[in-house]
Amino acid sequence: MRQTSQTRDFVLGGRRIRRLGYGAMQLAGPGVFGPPKDRGAAIAVLRHAVASGVNHIDTSDFYGPHVTNEIIREALSPYPDDLIIITKIGARRGSDGAWLPALSAAELKGAVHDNLRHLGLDTLEVVNLRAMFDPHGPAEGSLEAPLAVLAELQRQGLVRQIGLSNVTPAQIAEARRICDIVCIQNHYNVVHRTDDALIDELGRAGIAYVPFFPLGGFAPLQSQRLFDAAQQLGKPPMQVALAWLLRRASNILVIPGTSSVSHLKENLGAANLTLPDEIAVALDGITHAVIKPSTTI
Ligand SMILES: NC(=O)c1ccc[n+]([C@@H]2O[C@H](COP(=O)([O-])OP(=O)(O)OC[C@H]3O[C@@H](n4cnc5c(N)ncnc54)[C@H](OP(=O)(O)O)[C@@H]3O)[C@@H](O)[C@H]2O)c1
Repeated sequence: MRQTSQTRDFVLGGRRIRRLGYGAMQLAGPGVFGPPKDRGAAIAVLRHAVASGVNHIDTSDFYGPHVTNEIIREALSPYPDDLIIITKIGARRGSDGAWLPALSAAELKGAVHDNLRHLGLDTLEVVNLRAMFDPHGPAEGSLEAPLAVLAELQRQGLVRQIGLSNVTPAQIAEARRICDIVCIQNHYNVVHRTDDALIDELGRAGIAYVPFFPLGGFAPLQSQRLFDAAQQLGKPPMQVALAWLLRRASNILVIPGTSSVSHLKENLGAANLTLPDEIAVALDGITHAVIKPSTTI
């Protein structure tokens, strides 16, 4: 895998996709559990995204569970040839909505088949293995056993490419000794920068970095410096936050989530927003933001 010369696109596992994608998690009900209040609105968001050129959608069968994938299928199937749907396995939902590990061989195989069935696909383009040693952040522990299962599913042709989520540099190194890894999906945004060094290292290896919570997650980013930059530019703060990510490194792919077409339009505007150097430098210097705690992984 390599980066393209155009900053708009990235070649992920041999498929060219736009760096500005869409994250479908917000399409399930409150707490990513159960159906959304307005299924028609969720379908409208997905159709608007694809009609606007988005060809990279992030999902999982544990959103809902099943709900988000079923909505994607209803909204977009038969899928456009250039659309890549990236999913993740490794977790399951409790009856109360809890996020629980699901990393046994049987659970992983079941999750791949569930994703295939609910999305209506014969092959999953990219499957991220979601580490669950600590559901709330990367924590050390070997991923060898679940990755061996995923690599076998890849050999069977059910999975084309493999990525990782919620992982440490040591886990990425371990995984790359077992199979090719095309993307890493960890928590990162303009105010949450734990992975700064990792992003650059992955860039040198041609591996995509896909920040989750690019807008802060369940409580959108609250930073005076971001708001000041947005005011100076006359642009919505979330659009500026996404433009900062797109500028931060060419191996970053963004998957902002929204359940509203108007927010989607704002977010897609980030592709055409070039941050002046002085504003980018001011945002680089954000060291503190007020963020309400997230309620999920
Ligand atoms: N691998 C993992 O463990 C993991 C964890 C979390 C998420 N993810 C993936 O990452 C994707 C993105 O994360 P996310 O959706 O949780 O968080 P996010 O993209 O950081 O933020 C979503 C939140 O921001 C709001 N929002 C979106 N656009 C906005 C705008 N223009 N102005 C104001 N508010 C706006 C949304 O509310 P509205 O609906 O009202 O717009 C929603 O509350 C998910 O969809 C999922 O696919 C992966």
